[in-house]
Amino acid sequence: MHRNWLRWLASKKVKSLLMAVILFVSSLSLVMMAVAQQQPIRLTMMLQASELMPLQELVRDFEAENPDIRIELIEGPDNTNLREDLYTTAFLLGDSAYDLVYMDIAWVPKFAAAGWLLDISSRLQVQEREDFLSGDIEGGSYEGKLYRMPFRSDGGMLYYRQDLLEEAGYAPPDTTEELLEISQDLQAQGKAQWGYVWQGQQYEGLSAMFVEILHGFGGLWVDPDTLEVGLDQPQAIAAVNFLKQTIAERVSPSGVTSYQEEEARRVFQSGQVVFMRNWPYVWRLASEEGSPIRDRFGIKPMVHAPGYSSGACQGGWGIGIAKTTRHPDAAYKAAAYFASPEAQKKFILESGFVPSRRSLFTDPELVAAYEYLPDLLEVIDNSVLRPPIAQYAQASDVLQRYLSAALTNQRTPERAMEAAARETRQLLQR
Ligand code: GLC
Repeated sequence: MHRNWLRWLASKKVKSLLMAVILFVSSLSLVMMAVAQQQPIRLTMMLQASELMPLQELVRDFEAENPDIRIELIEGPDNTNLREDLYTTAFLLGDSAYDLVYMDIAWVPKFAAAGWLLDISSRLQVQEREDFLSGDIEGGSYEGKLYRMPFRSDGGMLYYRQDLLEEAGYAPPDTTEELLEISQDLQAQGKAQWGYVWQGQQYEGLSAMFVEILHGFGGLWVDPDTLEVGLDQPQAIAAVNFLKQTIAERVSPSGVTSYQEEEARRVFQSGQVVFMRNWPYVWRLASEEGSPIRDRFGIKPMVHAPGYSSGACQGGWGIGIAKTTRHPDAAYKAAAYFASPEAQKKFILESGFVPSRRSLFTDPELVAAYEYLPDLLEVIDNSVLRPPIAQYAQASDVLQRYLSAALTNQRTPERAMEAAARETRQLLQR
């Protein structure tokens, strides 16, 4: 039986049949490999809804030049903290679903320290970095290595109603005192319902806004080199007191403690407010046809306490590469494309966000669309970073929690800031 079986296998017919099968299987796998190689590389990235359309245009241009790469943009929530949480969860789960990480400057130390990002220092050569704003490069670095390609910068500004100020004979305010005085006068005259709106909700925007007021009162949050914490110092308490005063004196609505950027913008744009703290993106929206304050407002550096200087909080967004991506070269190519002068210019013309390249702040076409850009360059060049420490996310949570408690009268500013300083020190000692 066994012998018959061997004889059958050795017969010519069967041999050629076997050969045919082997040939068929190997050519099929070759075809499958070729098909797989022709499949474009797919990259994914999550971002907020308001940036989807203008970024989609850049993606289309990039894909036309790189038919072997496809980029899928995934719409995330507007709140920066919620998107940070989604990226964090994806990384904690292991094989992240995202190849490209569209990151707030404030996330960099945490993501880099956790080892979730590729070091791109050797890809973006030192000479190439020179056109980018130094705050964007600094804020995109951790322990001397670069982890984020700067795409769009940001800096907090004071918006003011030029028409109302001119009518009443006021120059735009430089100090917190002037801001309160002008607000109260114009409110008393019935020219505006509110004096000042800002971001008072408990979220990252509260920390970004507070960095500016703190700087304007000569205070310190955390010194990144010495890890000294200054939140319980008199300057920090004076900064909190100023914010509380705006609410107590009804210069700001009490609801300001639930405002993010968009809530502040909507009420300012409706024409009911004299001053607003916000990012430059508002300029384009408030200047659109049909906006009640079109051509009736200006922007300037933030107010500060008498004797101090103003500091814009350095914000901004850039692109990191997930360490788990299977396509680091394609991912870098895409990040470098988005950050290129041509792509940024197109994106900014469409969206009203701020460039991260110096040369674009004086680009004639961009200046024609956004006249404030040349002045903004100086403001952002002198901006203040949120402390670039690995524990930034927790430190910001602590500050937000206690600041919010002080603003909503659950604790006195002194007690709130003492607790904030104590918890921050404990966090940094861990
Ligand atoms: C803006 C800034 C960002 C900041 C956020 C806070 O998007 O660019 O840096 O963290 O606002 O809401």
